[in-house]
Amino acid sequence: MSLIEAAAKVRENAHAPYSGFKVGAAVRSSSGAVYLGCNVENAAYPEGTCAEAGAIAAMIAAGDTRIVEVAVIADSPDPVAPCGGCRQRLREFASPDVVVTMANKRGATLEMRMDELLPGAFGPEQLGGH
Ligand code: THU
Repeated sequence: MSLIEAAAKVRENAHAPYSGFKVGAAVRSSSGAVYLGCNVENAAYPEGTCAEAGAIAAMIAAGDTRIVEVAVIADSPDPVAPCGGCRQRLREFASPDVVVTMANKRGATLEMRMDELLPGAFGPEQLGGH
């Protein structure tokens, strides 16, 4: 199963009753493992979490730390763009050259590198990390 297919499958479990906009995300780590997440909305709207945040949380909980590939999918007119906050979240664990594949349910895809999605990033390197 491709990373996009994995993201599409977990998207089906998204809890998005308020926006109606279901998102699925999959990250592959340097160990080769794939971690999945979907958006989880809440009646108290700001408490909702994005699909990417869920996938990252699953990776960290499993003891993995480096993202080498990302896929995100939604039923959007164009391939779904990760929100600004999730670009920053991903950048914490993904190098500038990591490719993020964005997709929609109509089969369109768009690949962009982390440093295209978040140019001039403030990342762990700025604090002496990684
Ligand atoms: N959403 C994500 O899960 N990831 C993104 O990168 C874009 C937005 C979710 C948040 C909210 O549940 C819904 O999509 C509409 O914004």
